[in-house]
Amino acid sequence: MSDPKIVKLVDESSNRSSELPLISGTLGPACIDIGTLYKDTGHFTYDPGYGSTASTKSAITYIDGDQGVLLYRGYPIEQLAEKSSFLEVAYLLLNGELPKPTEFATFEHDITHHTMMHEAQKNFFQGFHHDAHPMAMLAAAVASLSAFYHDDLDVENPSDRKMAAIRLIAKMPTIAAACYRYSIGWPMRYPRNNLEYVTRFLHMMFEVPSEPLQMNPVAAKALDLLFILHADHEQNASTSTVRLVGSTGANPYASIAAGITALWGPAHGGANEAVLKQLEEIGTPDNVESAVLRAKDKNDSFRLMGFGHRVYKNFDPRAKIIREMCHKVLAELGVNDPLLEVAMKLEEAALKDDYFVERKLYPNVDFYSGIIYKALGIPTEMFTVMFAIARTAGWIAHWIEQHETPGSRIGRPRQIYTGADVRNYTSGDKR
Ligand code: ACO
Repeated sequence: MSDPKIVKLVDESSNRSSELPLISGTLGPACIDIGTLYKDTGHFTYDPGYGSTASTKSAITYIDGDQGVLLYRGYPIEQLAEKSSFLEVAYLLLNGELPKPTEFATFEHDITHHTMMHEAQKNFFQGFHHDAHPMAMLAAAVASLSAFYHDDLDVENPSDRKMAAIRLIAKMPTIAAACYRYSIGWPMRYPRNNLEYVTRFLHMMFEVPSEPLQMNPVAAKALDLLFILHADHEQNASTSTVRLVGSTGANPYASIAAGITALWGPAHGGANEAVLKQLEEIGTPDNVESAVLRAKDKNDSFRLMGFGHRVYKNFDPRAKIIREMCHKVLAELGVNDPLLEVAMKLEEAALKDDYFVERKLYPNVDFYSGIIYKALGIPTEMFTVMFAIARTAGWIAHWIEQHETPGSRIGRPRQIYTGADVRNYTSGDKR
């Protein structure tokens, strides 16, 4: 895929230069390969926040932020949202192709038969304080999988990698539901393998020993769709974290646990929880105007949560789908949530405000998802956990791709040092 075009960079002060090849992918702008820059010129590049930096090649997901396009393995997210299921999408992300029916049956069977937690892992939860945040428990519990499955794991072995992917995708809903049930003092439920992935998860969340659970199929369908939309998003902060940790040769459970902690931040996956809290604080459509004013005030750290995105400078295509679905799900479940009205008013006000227009700040994937989670009975602190269940498919697909790529190296950025110049140690009485 290498393009013969070259960018020449000349450092006039030293008269050293570097000829940097342009690399093109299948879609998207060509990148300048700066791999030899330091050797040729003695300079690094500086790009905090990675606004102009591609950290890897990847064949999994493509985003065109200006056009609002998202493709998983080439398939538009709109088509997958309409026609696929989360498990099929997980297979697609991992394997590169949509499964034939027999391939899907094998995959579903494998996932279904690895859903149980190790019995000893249940004791692990007893150590948490009763009000621990479920994301804290999730990160720790996933990292602890390393302790249960480490000894026989060789990250260089493709079938071991595949088994780790199966285990993670299969166990994540079980662990997530356990986090929730521990926090409310309910007994943990074993996965019921006669149910499909999302319905099984909802049972583990909400079934109580004393009575059968009446499950509305609309809830499972809505959650499945949300999982599809959250399954991957190329080199975002959490996926890049998984890759950076993975580049050291760390095991997949440790790598994904690191991704979970990165996801938790409110600038990333934690935004879904923050959006709902913010909508509740705003309270009524009448307060929207003052919220927008606060968001524009540079002396106020207040931001509209669920707005803006590093890559999308157009509508986030996932937000469009979720917005439509939000209306449908609430109507089908017979839920009348006044927060939806607040959210719509906020969206309308922001989209016609010069501040948001000039900065191309649109609602992102998390703006409406919380209202749907709430309608499904999922508590606010569990929103980012929902995101993590879905994103596990993407994280592990990237971890596998990284290990399959020949010549992968440990990730090791450099810095511009701004500390003290070299100086001599002075003894205590002379300081
Ligand atoms: N509300 C108000 N102003 C905003 C917002 C917002 N939500 N987002 C960005 N801006 C402003 C910034 O203040 C900045 O203004 P300036 O140019 O006058 O300084 C400008 O828009 C650009 O913002 P940056 O922070 O430079 O954009 P960046 O790409 O670094 O950040 C981010 C993207 C983190 C998503 C940001 O838009 C944000 O904080 N949004 C709210 C949190 C959120 O919804 N996160 C979820 C993202 S989607 C996901 O991770 C799943």
